[in-house]
Parts: sequence; structure tokens; C-alpha cells
Amino acid sequence: MNNEQDIKHETPIQNFYAGQSIFITGCTGFLGQILIEKLLRSCPDISTMYLLIRSKKDKSPESRLNEMFKSSLYDRMKKKIPNFRKKVVPIVGNLDCKNLGLSENDKNILIYKVSIIFHLAANVRFQEKIKSQIQTNICATDTILRIAKLMPYLKSFIYVSTIYANFCVKHIEEHVYTYPINYKDLITLTHILSENTMEEKKAKITSQWPNTYTFTKAIAEGLLRDEGGDLPIGIFRPAIITSTANEPLVGWNNNFLGEIGLTVFISSGFQRFMLCNPYIPANFVPVDLTGNALIASAWDVFIQFRRGKDMLIYNFVPPADAPTIGEWFYKIADITKTYPLPKAQWRPFVIMLQRKMLYRICIWLGHLLPALLVDTISICMNYRPRMWKLYRKIHSRSYEMAPFLTRRWSYSYDNVEAMWNRLNEQDQQLFKFYMKKFDWTNYFVNHYKGVRFFILNEDDSTLEISRIRDKRLYWIHQTFKTLFVFAIVWIIWIIFIKVFT
Ligand SMILES: NC(=O)c1ccc[n+]([C@@H]2O[C@H](COP(=O)([O-])OP(=O)(O)OC[C@H]3O[C@@H](n4cnc5c(N)ncnc54)[C@H](OP(=O)(O)O)[C@@H]3O)[C@@H](O)[C@H]2O)c1
Repeated sequence: MNNEQDIKHETPIQNFYAGQSIFITGCTGFLGQILIEKLLRSCPDISTMYLLIRSKKDKSPESRLNEMFKSSLYDRMKKKIPNFRKKVVPIVGNLDCKNLGLSENDKNILIYKVSIIFHLAANVRFQEKIKSQIQTNICATDTILRIAKLMPYLKSFIYVSTIYANFCVKHIEEHVYTYPINYKDLITLTHILSENTMEEKKAKITSQWPNTYTFTKAIAEGLLRDEGGDLPIGIFRPAIITSTANEPLVGWNNNFLGEIGLTVFISSGFQRFMLCNPYIPANFVPVDLTGNALIASAWDVFIQFRRGKDMLIYNFVPPADAPTIGEWFYKIADITKTYPLPKAQWRPFVIMLQRKMLYRICIWLGHLLPALLVDTISICMNYRPRMWKLYRKIHSRSYEMAPFLTRRWSYSYDNVEAMWNRLNEQDQQLFKFYMKKFDWTNYFVNHYKGVRFFILNEDDSTLEISRIRDKRLYWIHQTFKTLFVFAIVWIIWIIFIKVFT
């Protein structure tokens, strides 16, 4: 826990943010929400936060923001900064539109007021139409860079990428790599080719990446390197982001994508087979530590830029002593025994498989055939069949995640370490992001409890009933296991008899 009340004087990072106007994109997202909460709470002298936000589902940007700030995530900050809302200004915009769809007035406000930029917004779906993802993740970054170039007071511009932008590199250094295609060729292609033709060529264009998301993030990095000029730019590359470790709420998360989705499927007993390598390190980082490192990186870029340093890249990854994928998911399955779910379908357990063929056989026998059986019974009883559809979703998610759970990478994170060492003791307390000697055991429990509470809306009041159900599921599971072993022994026995008599 950081103890901001103990810190009496302004720290270098607080000083850096004091009086500044900040432009943030992606404020409604998983990382964005943590970033703005922490900035408002721990850097109370920030002048204004301009948040790029679009209308969604008939909700205006203003009402989306109001709704967002009602979340318990912001309670601690609201207590400390009751008038925080005066500092927050929505800027209506959409990455999918030309020039972000900004009004001339808003554009001028950004140019003449903003001194710090955090560009987080992105289309993070793995399998998106390539043409639209190029617009969202590359062209919009280009637009923001052009606006940044017009800003007379710009001190720091942080672009949030992903460590997997460099998927094809085995040892990922803190520099921007060069790829066979660059943003200029790509943007030209999008102008010349129709969406259908682009889709046909997608596999060839993105061949070095597992999906269009990581591909477009990599090309956006290249754009910033080539066009960034003499701007104070930093590229921040986090690993897979998971629940908060400490603040403002322990175990908070709101993102069903990535590891959290897998945790939900495993803990509810639906997913029993995973395509992954259990022996490689789990590349997961808590979102609050990620937000802290992000805040520090804008300060660091400013300091280093004044010292004549070029664009800085920060690989924000877990340390070498982090748990392996196997340790991670076995532990999660284990914790579910203490905190089971009231609607669990089966006793949670997970079998990790590295070979695609074996995985396919297992999901047919262990997921899809039982699903077919249950759906048939549902149809006969006049209920809606759901299992087949659900398993299609689970498997497509597993296949999407598999490239990140089966490959081994190593990383350089010298810039992150050097940044940590440049922080004074107070900033190290306030913006803690150092992960060596991190208490993973405690984190597993809090992370799982957070998924249980924030994603599945189950608080401790359902624990008693869940444990009774879990006991029942345990005995059903043991009975099935015993029958299964008997069936296998029986089949072997029959084959043996047939062969030898
Ligand atoms: N989560 C991870 O594990 C992870 C790991 C590495 C890197 N990152 C990077 O971190 C950044 C934030 O990720 P996240 O996990 O917070 O993602 P997220 O929860 O999906 O949030 C994405 C944000 O981008 C905004 N956005 C998307 N399309 C937009 C558009 N067309 N116009 C305006 N805003 C748009 C979303 O706004 P709406 O609410 O309006 O949709 C939302 O605020 C991304 O750049 C991602 O690449 C994430």
C-alpha cells in the first residue's frame, strides 16, 4: 500500500504534474481508468485533464464520464479531492474519424493548453478488420502526433504500446524494431485497396504477428520513431495487464479480455483444458503498478529529454522470478476451492496442453461432447441450448490467447530499472511499480477474489452456499474420475484379451 498521507511535501513527480494540463485518450478503458484515478488522487495540483471520449450506445461523452466516476474505484480519490470534477474536461472525439472528429475549438484548446499526453486508446480486439484497425491504431496515432507537434508547451508524450508489438523478436530490447512494411506503405495500401482486398491480403501483411492488434501497435511504434522529430516521446510497453495489486481497491478489474477471461472460465468450471506451455513465465503485470510506471514515465521522458536523450522505450514486464503459466493457473484453480462460485458448473480444474492436436482431442471429449449432450437435453426440455455456443466462445478465446501463452520471450528492462532508480524515496512509495520480491501468493488470492467480485458480482455472502455446492461438485467429479479410470482399464483389458486369446 502506498501511504500518500505520510508524504507531506511535493515530490519531484508531483511537482512535474503541478499546474499541467494533460490530454488522455482511452480514459474509459481498463488502464485508462486507473491512470486518471491515480493522477487525480496523487497529483492533486494538476490543472486540467482533457479526456478524449466518444458517445456510445446513445450515451453522450459527458454522461459516460459521470457514470464512470460513480464507480467505487473513485471513492478514495473523491474523498481526497472532492472538487475533482472541475479539473476533468471531456473532449468529444473518436479515433475512427478523420482528425479524431475534433471540433476546431477543441483542437485549439489541446494545442495551446496541453503539456503532457498519454495516448492509450486503441482497438484491442485481436481479430479485427485490418483496414479499420489501421485507422484506429495507426492513423489516429499519426493525427495525435501532428497535434502534438503544434503544442508549444509539450513536455512529454507517452504512447502506450504492448510488449507483444514485437511478437516475432525472441529477446525484446527497449528500442523500436524495423519491419518489412512501414506505416507509409500501409496507409497508402488502405487508400488504394478496398476492405475486402485488404482482408484477403491480411495474412500476408501481418505474417510476423499473431493478430492485427499487435501488428498495428508495432507499425504505430515505427511511425512515432520516424515522424516523432524532436518531440519528447516515450513508448511504454506493458505485458498482459491484470487486476490491481494494492490501490485504489485491492483486486479491482473490469476487463474480460486476456487473462481475466480465462480465470472466469476456469473458476466457473467451464474451461478444463488450456492450450499453453505451463513452464514459461506468466507475463502478467498488475494494472495499478502499470499505471504508476506510466505516470513516472512521462516525468522520466521529460527529465531525460532535457539531458539530450532520444525517444525512450519502457518494457514494463514482470521480473524473472515471476510465476510460470502453470503455477499461475494451477494456483487460481486451487484458490477456487476456498472461494468457489455459486454458479460453478463443475469442480474447477485445468489441464494444460502444449500440442494443438492433443488439445483438440481433449476439448472434443471434455468440452464439446458434454456440451452437445447438455444442449440436447435442454432442447428436449424446452430450454434454450447454450453450451455449444459458450464453448465456441471459450475455444476461440483460447486460440487467440495461445500465441502469448506458448512462446518464451526474454526482455531488456534497463530503462524501467533506471527510471525506478531515479525516483526519490517518496516517489517510490507513491508510485510504486518495482516488481522484484513482489508477493505473488497474496496477489493470486486478491486477484481471484477481485475477479469473483468485480466481474462476476459475487461477494462473500454467497460463500457458504457456494461451498456446499462445491462439496457436491467435488463428489460428482470424483465419481466421474473413478468411472473414467475404470472405463480405460476395462478397454485396455478387452484389447488385451482380444490380442492374446
Ligand atoms: N490490457 C492489457 O493487457 C494491455 C497490455 C498491453 C498493452 N495494452 C495497451 O494499453 C492501452 C489500454 O488498454 P486497455 O486494456 O485499457 O484497453 P480497453 O479497456 O479496451 O480500453 C480501450 C480504450 O480505448 C478507447 N477507444 C477504443 N476505440 C476508440 C475509438 N475509436 N475512439 C475513441 N476511443 C477509443 C476505449 O473507449 P470506449 O470506452 O469508448 O470504447 C477505451 O477507453 C491500449 O493501447 C493497449 O494496446 C493493454
